[in-house]
Amino acid sequence: MNREIVIFSCLTIHVSRLQIREFLCVFAQPLRSLREIIFFVNERELFLKHIAQTSPSPLAFEITKAEGCLLYDIKGKEYIDLIGGISVANIGHRHPKVIEAIKQQLDAYMHVMVYGEFIESPQVQYAKLLADNLPASLNSVYFTNSGAEAIEGSMKLAKRITNKTQIIAFKNSYHGSTQGALSIIGDEYWRNSFRPLLPDVLHLEYNSFESLNEISERTACVITETVQAEGGIIVPSKEWMQALRKKCLGTGTLLILDEIQAGFGRTGKLWGFENFEIIPDVLILGKALGGGLPLGAFIADKKLMDAFTENPVLGHITTFGGHPVCCAAGIAAMRVLLEEKIIDSIKAKEELFRSLLVHKKITKIRSFGLWMAIEFDSFETNKKIIDACINLGVMTDWFLFAPKSLRISPPLIISEEQIKKVCNIILQACNNL
Ligand SMILES: Cc1ncc(COP(=O)(O)O)c(C=O)c1O
Repeated sequence: MNREIVIFSCLTIHVSRLQIREFLCVFAQPLRSLREIIFFVNERELFLKHIAQTSPSPLAFEITKAEGCLLYDIKGKEYIDLIGGISVANIGHRHPKVIEAIKQQLDAYMHVMVYGEFIESPQVQYAKLLADNLPASLNSVYFTNSGAEAIEGSMKLAKRITNKTQIIAFKNSYHGSTQGALSIIGDEYWRNSFRPLLPDVLHLEYNSFESLNEISERTACVITETVQAEGGIIVPSKEWMQALRKKCLGTGTLLILDEIQAGFGRTGKLWGFENFEIIPDVLILGKALGGGLPLGAFIADKKLMDAFTENPVLGHITTFGGHPVCCAAGIAAMRVLLEEKIIDSIKAKEELFRSLLVHKKITKIRSFGLWMAIEFDSFETNKKIIDACINLGVMTDWFLFAPKSLRISPPLIISEEQIKKVCNIILQACNNL
């Protein structure tokens, strides 16, 4: 096939101008083989045609390799990853110990039975590792496939334990896309088209003492992110968190903390709630929990969790939840995090970012550990800076409920040198506006 035919076939499959530009960019590189070029065009087109889309303008990067803190695209271009798969790759992409653990588990067994029936060593060992590193009351782990499923399970547990129905959540919170999780996310724009959703859900102002008055004897649970992630790193006061804990205790309400993004060291402590000196009744984990593979969990006292064993029996079940390969990967990742004392470096890295990111275009920085929202005057400014960063080799994006803010949520292993490089690039992008 010659060059003209390739271009012609590219045009006839309705590619956008952007795609053609990217195609030509790849094609212009003399070392690319024709096979590679055709593959590139096809994959992109197939992605748009056959992968269910979630927005009219997906990022559509074709990543061919990820390692540590770096991503590589189909053109061989390297990016420092400030997204980390949205707080997933806490110990970096493809850590060798995680890969080894996955291989070992693959050699033993993959799926053998639905969740909770057989004794599967990776699940048992991971539950023990988590419990050993949590307060004594968080000792029983229910593994799920995703964060949203863990949210669903926790809401069911709260209703079952308390015999109450009201669920309280907070404005600007994100908890997942399934119907129960969607019912409690704190933004009407995302909920409205899918009504009816769960009844008896109340959304309150986050970090407001006044809002705590709404929690009453009829509230089954309060679900909150320990630190609001997609709201743009909104950190509540310690006093408020402690008042919330107290109010829940006083009203017989379960306090459920969503640490799907806050967990596994991102805030500078292993668990986000440690920063506030409180202990939730139920802790929800996901994202980094699986070391790069899909895994979620809700964790509570066994006395509470046992409610799922009766009336009805099998009160919450899943086929693949706690998949042995995902648990094996998760154990390996958590061991690396703890043994290599990665968390000890977080506060210094946060400080380094903050000290370097000084520019008149930056209107505010909100941060909590290696988790930062760099705010600009508008979404348009933010978008231009994000696009420029990506062009210059830094992968970032914005937050769901904070479109004016650029996301810094890198693998926790990001080096000082990489932080300096990233900051230079962000400042360069600001200067070039
Ligand atoms: C704070 C928080 N909770 C829950 C979820 C839902 O997790 P999942 O996408 O694994 O269902 C997310 C996902 O981004 C999240 O950030």
